[in-house]
Amino acid sequence: MILPKVYITRPLPPPVVERIATRCDVKVRPEDTPLDPPKLAESCHEIDGLLATGVRVGEEVIQQAPRLRVVANVGVGYDNIDVAACTRRRILVTNTPDVLTESTADLSFALLMAVARRVVEGDRYIREGQWQYPKWELLWGTDIYGKTLGVYGMGRIGKAVVRRARGFSMRIIYYDAVRLSPALEQELGAQFVDRDTLLREADFLTLHVPLTSETHHLIGARELAMLKPTSFLINASRGKLVDEAALVETLQSKRIAGAGLDVFEHEPHVNPGLLSLANVVLTPHVGSATAATRLAMAMLAAENLLAALEGRRPPNLVNPEIYA
Ligand code: 8YV
Repeated sequence: MILPKVYITRPLPPPVVERIATRCDVKVRPEDTPLDPPKLAESCHEIDGLLATGVRVGEEVIQQAPRLRVVANVGVGYDNIDVAACTRRRILVTNTPDVLTESTADLSFALLMAVARRVVEGDRYIREGQWQYPKWELLWGTDIYGKTLGVYGMGRIGKAVVRRARGFSMRIIYYDAVRLSPALEQELGAQFVDRDTLLREADFLTLHVPLTSETHHLIGARELAMLKPTSFLINASRGKLVDEAALVETLQSKRIAGAGLDVFEHEPHVNPGLLSLANVVLTPHVGSATAATRLAMAMLAAENLLAALEGRRPPNLVNPEIYA
């Protein structure tokens, strides 16, 4: 029997590769380094399935892969994949929702807490040997409890952040293109507001919106100007949601109090303006990066891939119109 050919773009945990290898002829790229589209395309000529992590899958790759039937992305966001081009070719695209919700919400909240309570500055202060005597006015931060959390995007991760915020007695307001049911709003203790109210009233504005052509630069100079001077911006979704140059200018001129950022407009490049600001906490796109979550993501991507290759409907299909 001829097994379907699968290419995995990075080394993944052995149980994941073994699972795929029970049904497919698998090739794993051994390097955990960047892979540009022309190089990726070279490895796709003969494949039926692609397990994609950290790569761009555009027209250029798809055209070189005449047999390709499924692109299984390891990640909930799939802005790295040209879904429209895949759909035209009837290539199934899948993602990995749910399994990373709690870890990503944890990191969003970790950034919020770290920037509000100046955790990273405190760590640096000690390591640099500056802690010589008890100081009254040392690293005063901002309280979290009782403050207003503004959630932009109330999907799975937004809701998980809200559940954490409730433990801190925060007031919760949110905006989303789709409003929740009254029952769910009540359960979450979250009040729906319009976009401008969200920006004006949030003490912490946290973004949980997928990146699309409509959400690019969702937060630009105009939106940043509406935030309170005492507010913080938290972003663990996608860097391109924010006009990073405008954010740097806003932070430099102290028009907001700080930011906690896990994602950047041109990753892995980080605007140098951010690097010199003490009131900004930076992490390198590690929202889902726990051992358990990364394993669950890779395993779910593998299940999606196998389902597609075996003619079953994958559980996390992004372009269901293929079946329409
Ligand atoms: C991953 C992510 O870092 O799931 C997402 O959308 O951004 C992250 O969990 C990334 O997709 C790794 O491939």
